[in-house]
Amino acid sequence: MPAMSEPSAGGYYARHIFFCLNERKNGEDCCAAHGAQAGFDHCKARVKAEGLAGAGKVRVNKAGCLDRCAGAPVAVVYPEAVWYTFVDLEDIDEIVESHLKNGQVVQRLVLPPQVGR
Ligand code: FES
Repeated sequence: MPAMSEPSAGGYYARHIFFCLNERKNGEDCCAAHGAQAGFDHCKARVKAEGLAGAGKVRVNKAGCLDRCAGAPVAVVYPEAVWYTFVDLEDIDEIVESHLKNGQVVQRLVLPPQVGR
């Protein structure tokens, strides 16, 4: 698994994915209203099941608002700083298999650069 042995300089994890799980109760749109929690839970489970979790490998973390709410739900992968939007759990499977495991960006799910709040 060569992609896992190439962390960024000084990186504790080879890849780190953050999911916005922000929920707004004032009626404004947010990632929580678009399946963010399910995506996070699925990603965490898949990474663990694939044996990808841990130091030198992959970490899946929750985040608050990442200020790109118009693309909700969103997640970002470092060190590449690739932003994703996803629709269903199959999209998460593809991010795990392609990017987190093998370092290949899933272009069809990349959040367009102009998408902000
Ligand atoms: S609510 Fe998710 S990026 Fe703002």
